[in-house]
Amino acid sequence: MIVLGIETSCDDTAAAVLEDKTLRSSIVSSQDAVHGPFGGIVPELASRHHVIHILAVIHAALEKAGIGLGDVDGIAVTHGPGLVGSLLVGLSAAKGIALARDIPLVGVNHLEGHMLAVFLEREIEFPYVALLVSGGHTSLYLAEAAGSYRKIGATRDDAAGEAFDKAAKMLGLGFPGGRVIDQLAKKGDKAALRFPRAVVRGARYDFSFSGLKTALRELLRKEYGIGADPQAPSLPEPVLCDIAASFQEAVVDVLVNATVRAAQELGVGRIVVSGGVSANSRLRAHMAAVAEPQGIAVYVPSPKFCTDNAAMIAVAGARRLARNERDPLTLNAVASLPL
Ligand code: KG4
Ligand code: ZN
Repeated sequence: MIVLGIETSCDDTAAAVLEDKTLRSSIVSSQDAVHGPFGGIVPELASRHHVIHILAVIHAALEKAGIGLGDVDGIAVTHGPGLVGSLLVGLSAAKGIALARDIPLVGVNHLEGHMLAVFLEREIEFPYVALLVSGGHTSLYLAEAAGSYRKIGATRDDAAGEAFDKAAKMLGLGFPGGRVIDQLAKKGDKAALRFPRAVVRGARYDFSFSGLKTALRELLRKEYGIGADPQAPSLPEPVLCDIAASFQEAVVDVLVNATVRAAQELGVGRIVVSGGVSANSRLRAHMAAVAEPQGIAVYVPSPKFCTDNAAMIAVAGARRLARNERDPLTLNAVASLPL
């Protein structure tokens, strides 16, 4: 079965071709250069750029896979959660192809895509504890089977990726900043500064990152006289690297502690980390270093499958298409769609 995956939930325009369990192509057109100057995603610009690029991206995915539209057996498209204007572009393209070619269409929850991205590279057994960390979400799930996920924890305020992006902005590192902080942190001392690790009373697996953000803002203001929105880094590189490493360590500590504790307490021997922040090198290394000595296996997709892509949407949709499920052409975009 050949599945065309389409993803436009946020600021990446993506299409992929999956043939059974083999990924034939995965194309991602990033809009970082469009939104960077604004310090965050501008929804109206995101939809407009999806409109410009969607057909070329789909065409590129088909061409790289060496197939035509006539070879596609089913279409999997993200229908939520995300920016409605963005989602509608991918959804409209998918519906148009499905209608014109009489191909089955299934809507995929973006979060389930992240959750199942790991299956692009290996088969793993259920159950597992899944940490889903991206720019918009930070949640912990018990994945009992494909399609059966129990939410056991979530952030009370900022998502981890949002914390990285806001920290990068305060340091004058541009947007999105998670990857830049990761790179700078490699040259810094993670014990140079002590940032708070918030514990949410009475909710063992919940997270909070807003205090960490405030601590960084206060540090920059008091120690270095830096305001909220510098346009370029104004600290000497070694200091910047130490701050990046110490800040990153605080985020990673909180994520790893809750995830490993959940796996231990629920008696689950597998952890899957997914979403854009799972591309973070320290999170990947530290999760494995803490969990594996306790007999808990850690699985993280390759970085290109951690950030938004359509291959993960194809993988999630293929399971439903294989069961002969299909969604009607009235399928709508949904901004807030729980897993
Ligand atoms: O999953 P994703 O591509 O989009 C959403 O659905 O949100 O995640 C994007 C987020 C951004 O906040 C970005 O800064 C963060 O993932 N990110 C990273 C790294 N690469 C991407 N955060 C920390 N370290 C990285 N290496
Ligand atoms: Zn995402």
